[in-house]
Amino acid sequence: MYRSKISGVGKYLPENVVTNNDLKQWMETTDEWIQERTGIKERRWIDTETSDDTTSIMGAKAAKQAMERAGISKDDIDFIVFATLSPDMYFPGGGVRVQELLEMDTIGALDVRNQCSGFIYGLSVADQFIKTGMYKNILVIGSENHSGGLERSTRGRGVTVIFGDGAGAVVLSRSEDESTGILSTHLHSEGKYAKELALEGPSTGRWVDAIMEENDPDDTSYYPYMNGQFVFKHAVVRFSEAIVEGLMTNHLNKEDIDMLIPHQANLRISQFIQKKFRLSDEQVYNNIQRYGNTTAASIPIALAEAWEEGKINKGDCVVLAAFGSGFTWGSAIIKWA
Ligand SMILES: CC(C)(COP(=O)(O)OP(=O)(O)OC[C@H]1O[C@@H](n2cnc3c(N)ncnc32)[C@H](O)[C@@H]1OP(=O)(O)O)[C@@H](O)C(=O)NCCC(=O)NCCS
Repeated sequence: MYRSKISGVGKYLPENVVTNNDLKQWMETTDEWIQERTGIKERRWIDTETSDDTTSIMGAKAAKQAMERAGISKDDIDFIVFATLSPDMYFPGGGVRVQELLEMDTIGALDVRNQCSGFIYGLSVADQFIKTGMYKNILVIGSENHSGGLERSTRGRGVTVIFGDGAGAVVLSRSEDESTGILSTHLHSEGKYAKELALEGPSTGRWVDAIMEENDPDDTSYYPYMNGQFVFKHAVVRFSEAIVEGLMTNHLNKEDIDMLIPHQANLRISQFIQKKFRLSDEQVYNNIQRYGNTTAASIPIALAEAWEEGKINKGDCVVLAAFGSGFTWGSAIIKWA
């Protein structure tokens, strides 16, 4: 059986920076409220007047950088896994669009719909394909265009201030070194809480209504809904469980963690986990301050940045963990190759 390793990391953030104070043009909010509750100072939102970026285009840009850093060309890629909750179109998914944008051969492209855990689910799927010998190089991409679908008003502020746009990608490659690479992945879900963090329309359930009630000012079903405190309480428990599960599977202790990259949901959640596992600032990577929560893109963006800053090196034990809508959650334990 083969092992898979991350051979290249990439990221792409739209240029347009939106600070907490910038948000005041649309809603009643303050920099203090946002920073205190979430840690976020600014996020990137696509400026549709000056940029053609979409979820797929950003994903393709991040993928290109990941392939360059892996030292391989688009013709070496055997398969694409694309994670997003904000696809360019209702269907088809973004994976096929990336395949077209990168002018790739007719390789398979799979979309993953697991929101904040999407990248870990995608990584796990790709890992299985490589381990069985079916594919050699797989692009795993997470990309989100949140700004196109957020409610920019005081009514929507509880959700809107948290989310940002961006994309991250990795190339997962076959390796014959048993001691490094992806050691294990762990996936979970709890569908009974699906509506605690969800966007109900457009959907087949809300499709006709969408047309009929187009002008109903009270209809918020086309904007994301989040039961913030409920999500927070579950997140801290599930993040911890997923990390412990990953460590135990590999007979590792928290002291063995060189770098924990939590999904960038909320700085307070990351700090809670850091404290619980008694990790130092150097052992936990956070960039939510600059990008907000970029959902499926947040882990690969953070992974790419940590690598660029020289904070991830050969032999390091890198732990990825995520929790989000579904609810879904998971972790990945990596010995950096
Ligand atoms: C979303 C979150 C930051 C909200 O913080 P909170 O302390 O729970 O705040 P509440 O929603 O209870 O709102 C408290 C008050 O602030 C107000 N408020 C909400 N958003 C605001 C904003 N952007 N600016 C100013 N005030 C705001 C609310 O209207 C409410 O006012 P009220 O007391 O007069 O009714 C917090 O619940 C959270 O981080 N949850 C986890 C979310 C998460 O991680 N999601 C991603 C999972 S992948």
